[in-house]
Amino acid sequence: MDLIIKPISISGAEVLPLIEGGKGIAISDGASSGAWAAEGGVGTFSAVNPHVPGEEHLSFPSSYQSRTRVKRHAEMIERAIAGGIAQAKIAYETACGRGRIHMNVLWEMGGVDAVLNGILSKVQHMIHGVTCGAGMPFRLADICARYGIKYYPIVSSARAFNILWKRAYSRVSDWLGGVVYEDPWLAGGHNGLSTNENENAPEPPAPRVQNLRDLMRSYGISDLVPIFIAGGIWHLSEWEQFIGNPDLGAVAFQFGTRPLLTVESPIPIAWKKALFSLKKGDVSLNRFSPTGFPSSAVNNAFLQKLHARSVRQVSCETLVTSTHTEPLLISRAGGATVAGQQVFIKKADMEVVARFEAEGFTVPMLTPSRTVVFVSLDELADIEEERTQCVGCLSACNFSGWRQDESMPAHQLDPRSFCIQKSLQQIAINGDVDNALMFCGHQGYRFAEDPFYEGGYIPTVKELVARIRTGM
Ligand SMILES: Cc1cc2nc3c(=O)[nH]c(=O)nc-3n(C[C@H](O)[C@H](O)[C@H](O)COP(=O)(O)O)c2cc1C
Ligand code: SF4
Repeated sequence: MDLIIKPISISGAEVLPLIEGGKGIAISDGASSGAWAAEGGVGTFSAVNPHVPGEEHLSFPSSYQSRTRVKRHAEMIERAIAGGIAQAKIAYETACGRGRIHMNVLWEMGGVDAVLNGILSKVQHMIHGVTCGAGMPFRLADICARYGIKYYPIVSSARAFNILWKRAYSRVSDWLGGVVYEDPWLAGGHNGLSTNENENAPEPPAPRVQNLRDLMRSYGISDLVPIFIAGGIWHLSEWEQFIGNPDLGAVAFQFGTRPLLTVESPIPIAWKKALFSLKKGDVSLNRFSPTGFPSSAVNNAFLQKLHARSVRQVSCETLVTSTHTEPLLISRAGGATVAGQQVFIKKADMEVVARFEAEGFTVPMLTPSRTVVFVSLDELADIEEERTQCVGCLSACNFSGWRQDESMPAHQLDPRSFCIQKSLQQIAINGDVDNALMFCGHQGYRFAEDPFYEGGYIPTVKELVARIRTGM
């Protein structure tokens, strides 16, 4: 079934409707995205902590010079700009004029405006489009229009696009390059599952993509403006109803998980090998990210530890109530709580708390959900160290309480979360697939089943794109 897909216009060129999705931190880079573009598709490098070639890989926190969090945040932005420029050049040179190069940022990353402006002001001619999700990127359109570059919001529903369009994009419609529909039940990385969607009741993508196209049409957006379908795509032969379907208009297919396993993919070999051992059900949605978004990752020892921590939890009140009568002293700072603060728990939970303490989880820490979790002294030390070393990688962090903009409301820190910056670097740089967050799409188990990868074969991007084009 070779060539079931035909080139379409994306970011000003006729290219294959095959996209390597952006992956942070430094997981899709200039080399991988450039190679993808060289095969005639669209490669997306990540500008979330991109690597500056020749410099020590951005390890956390040892490579940061500054002593204060505000200064480390500024240092991080400077490096992201330098890294983004460097990766854009690598991608551009590797692509040799073929395909298209896109850049990906997270709207909720620290200093997103500065990073976008810093990179685009220097290498706008090397970047054909910017994709952006994880939040509501209202200002994305204006920033891209300023540099004459197409923008691609990543949404998980027509509803989200509707808000973006009404509030911001309708004014800057000429620069809308396309819309990425990322399936919130299937895609790897952060997911845009809304509060009224059930994580255990996945909805089929076809009606949701159709709703998005119908909405775009209702606003007069041409059918030639593509929808990139992302999440759960493995064999294109399984997506035939989306291909050449006049009801859907132009569509392209975005892959995130499959391109992790290529020769050009910069992830460590330990991570590549771990992908072969995934079984169905190993990837699940979790709610531990300090961004507040759900995310899909391998349920490894790291996630299991966070799960176990959040189970060691009892409800509490700050004042005595008819149900919460037993005093409990929060003896350590544990976030926004003042050391020595007293809270009240249910009598029935006293026994539970005694069991946690007997197991070595002796430190109660308040959460923003009017609960107390119990951690060990070692865990407490890790939590405190990570918070102290924070570089302000997000605009707002539930774990450390960092706020990029001090006018943003402060809120209570959540010890059930973790430092995503440290964790993603731990896997991206050191290949620690057990004790760090291993983002992965829900079809990751197919590496082990797909004969293309038989015997642990790792294809080049060229081989992978050729294979995908056959429908397999
Ligand atoms: C390891 C990993 C990291 C990712 N990081 C990002 C990211 O930083 N920004 C983003 O917009 N999407 C990110 N994604 C999502 C991908 O770009 C892509 O849309 C998604 O993986 C597609 O679904 P699939 O995993 O089923 O192929 C990531 C995905 C993975 C697997
Ligand atoms: S504590 Fe939060 S804001 Fe700070 S570096 Fe870690 S994830 Fe980023």
